Amino acid sequence: MERKALVFIRKMFENQSVVGAEVGVAIGTNALRTLKCMPNLRLLYLIDPYQHYPEWTSTLAKDRRFWPEDLEITKNKAKILLTFFEDRIIWVFKCFEECTSEDVEPLDFIYIDGNHNYDFVFRDIELARKLVKRGGVVSGHDFRPNSYSHDSLEVCRAVTDYCKKHDIVFSHEYEDWWFIN
Ligand SMILES: C[S@@+](CC[C@H](N)C(=O)[O-])C[C@H]1O[C@@H](n2cnc3c(N)ncnc32)[C@H](O)[C@@H]1O
Repeated sequence: MERKALVFIRKMFENQSVVGAEVGVAIGTNALRTLKCMPNLRLLYLIDPYQHYPEWTSTLAKDRRFWPEDLEITKNKAKILLTFFEDRIIWVFKCFEECTSEDVEPLDFIYIDGNHNYDFVFRDIELARKLVKRGGVVSGHDFRPNSYSHDSLEVCRAVTDYCKKHDIVFSHEYEDWWFIN
């Protein structure tokens, strides 16, 4: 199913040439769907270190796909899955917090689905706002206020706190959140 934030983004940029980024790609299923659903998406930056690091402590990190010894397999599966779209993607094998405007051109949208810990999500939004053009869309996954998942609750808290601090009205639907930069 197409993610709600990406439906919003697709409709907003209909008939325009678009550049976007996904933070946290894993096996590439969401990236694949995004590329298929948005033929006007000229370029999608795929940002993921595919490496374990001490601060990645979210429950998701314990998922088999993300065990240190399996991350290389996950990365290769994503590369194979997305081969058909290789002229519309650019891989950035880095932690998002290490990215700068040297890594990506100005973005029309970003979709954040990396480290789900509170501090990371908060800082990811801060950085995303610098990389996304004014009037573009900052968005992400795993916003589930009624969930029992620790990761989702961290995402909810971070998005809510960030938006409150900066007087931003954000939308959320099903598992996604977004706002206009
Ligand atoms: C939930 S998965 C992404 C799923 C993908 N967005 C999808 O829906 O198909 C989380 C990914 O975030 C990556 N990740 C973890 N920490 C990160 C960071 N600091 N910056 C970017 N990506 C990170 C992990 O390697 C993992 O592949």
